[in-house]
Amino acid sequence: MPFDRSIKIAPSILSADFANLGAEIRAVEAEGADWIHVDPMDGHFVPNLTIGPNVVAAIRPHVTTFMDVHLMIAPADPYIEAFAKAGSDMITVHAEAGPHLHRTLQSIRGHGAKAGVALNMTTPLSHIAHILDAIDLILVMTINPGFGGQKFTRSMVEKVAEARAMVGDRPIHIEVDGGIDPATAPLVAGAGADVLVAGSAVFKGGSVERPQVYGENIRAIRAAAED
Ligand code: DX5
Ligand code: ZN
Repeated sequence: MPFDRSIKIAPSILSADFANLGAEIRAVEAEGADWIHVDPMDGHFVPNLTIGPNVVAAIRPHVTTFMDVHLMIAPADPYIEAFAKAGSDMITVHAEAGPHLHRTLQSIRGHGAKAGVALNMTTPLSHIAHILDAIDLILVMTINPGFGGQKFTRSMVEKVAEARAMVGDRPIHIEVDGGIDPATAPLVAGAGADVLVAGSAVFKGGSVERPQVYGENIRAIRAAAED
């Protein structure tokens, strides 16, 4: 399959109804989601606790698109195998989460998943400049990770543009996460991001009983990004 740099909207299920994750995933996919973004957190690397590999495995059968798993855990290495076996298509680790990032990326690919690197806002792109062959996705954080519903950080637009220039023709996705909505989507898409994570901006106002709201929200973000 050729590498796809078109805009992909990835709803973060952190903003979904956790008692109803399977139905929530089916609803956003039916309403146009391209990827499903999953946010495991360990209460240590970030000040919040969310989901582990068992929940990822449980939701796997409901994902028919692409399961994009953003690990906010440190160390990540002991859990790569479990998240891969749970069916993650992409496993993204934070560059700040361990001393041997390249080994971690090799481990992810060795377990059959695609390998992403997330950069906290204060971590420069130079951190990964020499290991691009080991990376399938760069996640430029546009908030401090840990919670949904935070305000987008404008100075990250320039970082997205730098990431896009650094990647060149390589088949590496550029993803953004945090505060993405119809107002901020054009900024990051214009700078070269192709995967737009959105939690609150997708799920707000909707429910599995009113999934058409999810569709309206997704279309609004996509239209703004493609404008
Ligand atoms: C936060 C997570 C995000 C979060 C984004 O650490 O990585 O994926 O769900 O939420 P919004 O889109 O509401 O900023
Ligand atoms: Zn995320």
